[in-house]
Amino acid sequence: MKRAGTKIVMVTAYDNPSARLASEAGVDLILVGDSAGNNVLGYATTVPVTMDEAVMLTAAVARARPRALVIGDMPFGSFQASDEDAVANAVRLVKAGADAVKLEGAGVMASRVRALVGAGIPVMGHLGLTPQSATMLGGMKAQGRTATAAVGLLNDALELEAAGCFSLVLESVPARIAAHVSEALAIPTIGIGAGGGCDGQVLVWHDLLGINEGAAPRFVKRYAELANEIRRGIETFAAEVRTGAYPADEHVYKISRDELDAFEAELHDGQRAPD
Ligand code: KIV
Repeated sequence: MKRAGTKIVMVTAYDNPSARLASEAGVDLILVGDSAGNNVLGYATTVPVTMDEAVMLTAAVARARPRALVIGDMPFGSFQASDEDAVANAVRLVKAGADAVKLEGAGVMASRVRALVGAGIPVMGHLGLTPQSATMLGGMKAQGRTATAAVGLLNDALELEAAGCFSLVLESVPARIAAHVSEALAIPTIGIGAGGGCDGQVLVWHDLLGINEGAAPRFVKRYAELANEIRRGIETFAAEVRTGAYPADEHVYKISRDELDAFEAELHDGQRAPD
């Protein structure tokens, strides 16, 4: 797709119906992101997400049998310590149904990429703002905004490509720098807050569909307002339960007149006082 100049579409999804809908909508890639941590699991960040949680979410997505490639995100702690950890944990995601895995970082992580690719597992890299190490980066802020940092980013990207990544997420990077990196690489870049020069774009499900409300990073664009729709639906349900409008006749199961009469007769007999 990169060679053909066709933009690549990736969304996150964390459950079965979302994966089905994303697939029906024709996305190319579904990322079971560790952003599940702050979008569905109620954590403040992605850091607490465990392998067991990632495996469960990945399996739920994969069971939708989407046409899109399913990428399982490797949670914090699942690959940092050693290549062996990385392979063992990536194997769990693949057995759960992931076609590929994603991991954050470069440097020593290039060794993890080589180990995973050597084990036959395709790897997507992730550079720029890497939320799992946001504290080291000085917070959740854009990266590569000095010439030195931008050169570092480019070198990291080239290193990950050489290590065998099939694609690379660029998160919160100046658009001009992301475009340079995308041109320098043969593998496709998928941007989030990295401008239109990337080979594809990804947004988080709850951001793009307006389930998340309130302050959002500048790159978030809402393509629906599902939070309003969901609230409206539940409020209407609650109001109808309270007024008795729900359930209506068409929502209830019927029994024949004869069976009902027989039931009522038995009830009556059963209640008769013993002789
Ligand atoms: O976990 C995630 O959703 C991600 C995307 C922001 C790329 O890593």
